[in-house]
Amino acid sequence: MTQDALVIFTPSGKRGRFAVGTPVLTAARQLGVDLDSVCGGRGICSKCQVQPAYGEFSKHGVTVAEDALSPFNAVEQRYDEKRGLKPGRRLGCQATVQGDVVIDVPAESQVHKQVVRKAATARTITMDPATRLYFVEVQEPDMHEPSGDFERLSAALSEQWQIDGLTAPLPVLQRLQPALRKGGWRVTVAVHKGHHDSAPRLLDIWPGYYEGGLYGLAIDLGSTTIAAHLCDLVTGAVLASSGIMNPQIRFGEDLMSRVSYVMMNPGGDREMTDAVRAALNDLTDAIAQDAGIERHAIVEAVFVCNPVMHHLLLGIDPVELGQAPFALATSGALSLDAGDLDLSRMNPAARIYILPCIAGHVGADAAAVALSEEPNKSDDLALIVDVGTNAEILLGDKTRVLACSSPTGPAFEGAQISSGQRAAPGAIERLEIDPTTKDPRFRVIGSDLWSDDPGFAEAVAQTGVTGICGSGIIEAVAEMRMAGLVDASGLIGSAEQTGTPRCEAQGRTHAYLIHDGSAEGGPRITVTQGDIRAIQLAKSALYAGARLLMDARGVDTVDRVVLAGAFGAHISPKHAMVLGMIPDAPLDKVTSAGNAAGTGARIALCNLAARAEIEQTVRAIHKIETAVEPKFQDHFVSANALPHASDPFPELAKIVTLPDVSFNAAGTSDRARRKRRRSP
Ligand code: FES
Repeated sequence: MTQDALVIFTPSGKRGRFAVGTPVLTAARQLGVDLDSVCGGRGICSKCQVQPAYGEFSKHGVTVAEDALSPFNAVEQRYDEKRGLKPGRRLGCQATVQGDVVIDVPAESQVHKQVVRKAATARTITMDPATRLYFVEVQEPDMHEPSGDFERLSAALSEQWQIDGLTAPLPVLQRLQPALRKGGWRVTVAVHKGHHDSAPRLLDIWPGYYEGGLYGLAIDLGSTTIAAHLCDLVTGAVLASSGIMNPQIRFGEDLMSRVSYVMMNPGGDREMTDAVRAALNDLTDAIAQDAGIERHAIVEAVFVCNPVMHHLLLGIDPVELGQAPFALATSGALSLDAGDLDLSRMNPAARIYILPCIAGHVGADAAAVALSEEPNKSDDLALIVDVGTNAEILLGDKTRVLACSSPTGPAFEGAQISSGQRAAPGAIERLEIDPTTKDPRFRVIGSDLWSDDPGFAEAVAQTGVTGICGSGIIEAVAEMRMAGLVDASGLIGSAEQTGTPRCEAQGRTHAYLIHDGSAEGGPRITVTQGDIRAIQLAKSALYAGARLLMDARGVDTVDRVVLAGAFGAHISPKHAMVLGMIPDAPLDKVTSAGNAAGTGARIALCNLAARAEIEQTVRAIHKIETAVEPKFQDHFVSANALPHASDPFPELAKIVTLPDVSFNAAGTSDRARRKRRRSP
């Protein structure tokens, strides 16, 4: 009788005794060790690489002899000659256990790899994609036992990979026979398994062993921009990222104007659907080219978007979303074929997953933020704000999560601001005002130098100083408040009142001059009274939304604030609090999550269980509709002041003393129009 050998796998620490002669891959499978294999142990794929360790391991209580594994065999030899194996590596399906051994499974050989994100609030993504590759040997047809090629492929998958009940869409069936014959009845297939009880589906087939990869797109479909990440579905790596403008902008800048376009123009929804789908096709082409991969290897796409974008992508008239009770055609998650959405540039059988919407105003993008930031698992009370044309706001902890959206308008993106521009090279993104001289210094996108640093002029010679972007305007207004150039009501003082000629008269109001590039043919960049009003409207909407959720939760403060969104990542927490965009909180408890919606899309793309998880989480989120909530208007009006008319900001007061100035005497009415736009 052969003696059993002790096999210990690292890093999992799983161990067990196996008969001498057992392949390492078999031992790994029996112990549930995460060791990859696409070819099923045939020595073709090399995914099963392991690294045995030799010598004394007191920690494990074993000594590993040099001959603990079988010698290099012909298959490994051939693979090493053709492709090269790293020193010390073995193919787990070829090497057999001969004695006690410690075997390391390197990260690249694990199926469920951990992908660490770079962001500060790093959340690792465990790879568990819906679509995987499998190598199979299929029985040849036999006239005496007639059966279809697909049925024999299906039987082979069941037998060799325990995948039962395979289905195949027509485009794949059409390519089945040539692939099987060309590969000599050995093929690689891409099989998609849904997270519900849906049958596994054949997405593609290649003759023999397919060396290429499988890819997926995580797409954040916003009203202004469409951002996509191309991810490797095996490693989780982001191979390319790309963003384009949403072409629907020509039908209306914001969501409400797009809904109005549909109301006024029969067939307008179809036009917008066609426009966005065409843009997605172009984006697919461009991103595949960027990454140097075949477009047909893109077998999945995950979408996150607000409800109006959601309906327009799906070809559903969004008109119901423009009026109470803001009913969605469907709020659940959707699993579709690429062909359903005319996405013709990826694999024709590619699968599309769209995250669930939370409510008529709170979309799949907010669901994606919830998936990324996990307020439902938080011990402390977290307020998560995804700042965009509409702010999506989540408040909660592990007991309960509330959500709403608030119509902030485009001011935070630099639109409707006199010197405003999108975040692009040349735009002022950071700004400080000296409280004594009242002079500004600033930084523009594209240079790390401040405007008063030596060499600044040369550094920005290429781009010039062209305008002010969203994060820049927030800092500018907050700095003006801190320097006593703007009072609590939002009024800019005159040159006499503030003591600086930079506060110039502009009709009956004043504007603060940041930069005068007119001598070189550049713009004069100012912050006008109108700009401050636009920022006040936007920040009041944001704060009022957050406040409504806090009311519903019965609290006056939150433990922490997370700023999300591509723009949210660039906002300075201190300046946001001076403006009263967000409720008072200790500054170190205000963090940025970067593009959390995009991260949520990536998580759902790479991890099947995350899809089931977010569907369940969304069902439990309590929605609050700001449009019909009477208290929203009260909160909105009180939030107009900088930072707020009545709510205390004790944490802010610890770090900043706001000058007690008032410029009403300047003859300018403080009774600014407190109108606000409503958009879905
Ligand atoms: Fe494919 Fe070992 S499992 S080479």
